[in-house]
Amino acid sequence: MYSKRVKWQQALEILLLLHLFLETSIQGCSEQLVVVSGSNVSLQICNLPDKYKKLTWFYTDIQKIVEWESNTPKPRYFKSKFKDRVTFDHQNGTLHIYKVQKEDSSTYLLKILKEAGTEEERKIFLKVFDPVSKPVINITKIKEVNNSCYLNLSCVAWGQSLNYTWYRDSGPFPKELWSSKLVINVEPQNYSKFYICQVSNPVSNKNRTVYFTSACEQAPASGVAWIATWLVVMVLTALGFLLT
Ligand SMILES: *[C@@H]1O[C@H](CO)[C@@H](O)[C@H](O)[C@H]1NC(C)=O
Ligand SMILES: *[C@@H]1O[C@H](CO)[C@@H](O)[C@H](O)[C@H]1NC(C)=O
Ligand SMILES: *[C@@H]1O[C@H](CO)[C@@H](O)[C@H](O)[C@H]1NC(C)=O
Ligand SMILES: *[C@@H]1O[C@H](CO)[C@@H](O)[C@H](O)[C@H]1NC(C)=O
Ligand SMILES: *[C@@H]1O[C@H](CO)[C@@H](O)[C@H](O)[C@H]1NC(C)=O
Ligand SMILES: *[C@@H]1O[C@H](CO)[C@@H](O)[C@H](O)[C@H]1NC(C)=O
Ligand SMILES: *[C@@H]1O[C@H](CO)[C@@H](O)[C@H](O)[C@H]1NC(C)=O
Ligand SMILES: *[C@@H]1O[C@H](CO)[C@@H](O)[C@H](O)[C@H]1NC(C)=O
Repeated sequence: MYSKRVKWQQALEILLLLHLFLETSIQGCSEQLVVVSGSNVSLQICNLPDKYKKLTWFYTDIQKIVEWESNTPKPRYFKSKFKDRVTFDHQNGTLHIYKVQKEDSSTYLLKILKEAGTEEERKIFLKVFDPVSKPVINITKIKEVNNSCYLNLSCVAWGQSLNYTWYRDSGPFPKELWSSKLVINVEPQNYSKFYICQVSNPVSNKNRTVYFTSACEQAPASGVAWIATWLVVMVLTALGFLLT
């Protein structure tokens, strides 16, 4: 069920890229931008005609963001969710957007009214991603005879368009095993001291490591936790001494 959805998502992404590629080769200058949320982006047009009467930037084909006409000095900003986050440079048509959010992902359209009265369009496709969250690894162990172990590790992270990569102490696992779940059979002779799940999207990546002391024995969560536990025990012991 899950992997089917991922496959659909990947197929859609490929179609989208193909679409963008075709569009680029036809129009010569449309672009796509992939950025992390919170950044400032500049939507630049690289082959603006020499002379134009009017420039209008649209969001999703219908919502006007800003309009500039050659006979008025100031650009007119429309009421939109961009109201206080955009500035427009009429010299070269560049639209600057500050602090982009995921919801700003869209096709941006610039309509150019030329001196002769004909109209041209340019498109820029913007995709905004949040950085991925740090993953958590959930472990299910099934111990079999002779210390061999069936391990089911699931990597849980939050975000869109996530890719998972798994590593062991000898390097990355084969690509076929890369998904949110890693299901392996480990023998004493080929156990790994650790497993890493790395989660990535086009703008960021984060990872989590779990440690093992044998095929089926997980190492204590972390040194810091051990020291903390040890300190608590020592303090309680000392208190016990004082109170008796
Ligand atoms: C975005 O632009 C604003 C205003 O120029 C600036 O204060 C801020 O530091 C910029 N943010 C980033 C992530 O560059
Ligand atoms: C447009 O002008 C800005 C400065 O106002 C400059 O940074 C940017 O590179 C220019 N873009 C193009 C496509 O010429
Ligand atoms: C980890 O697995 C346990 C038991 O299968 C489940 O209750 C818990 O919700 C899982 N945690 C995450 C973060 O998926
Ligand atoms: C367990 O290991 C021992 C010695 O290596 C072997 O004789 C025995 O057959 C193994 N048991 C199973 C169920 O594989
Ligand atoms: C691995 O564990 C998950 C739940 O954490 C479960 O849904 C899945 O069926 C398990 N996979 C195998 C092969 O046992
Ligand atoms: C460990 O070795 C066993 C037997 O050779 C094999 O079935 C298993 O796939 C190996 N596990 C890993 C994680 O390489
Ligand atoms: C995700 O995996 C696919 C297939 O391996 C790859 O084409 C794509 O570039 C990856 N995306 C990221 C963000 O790593
Ligand atoms: C895991 O993340 C750390 C930084 O948090 C990085 O230094 C390390 O290279 C990453 N490991 C892998 C296997 O990507």
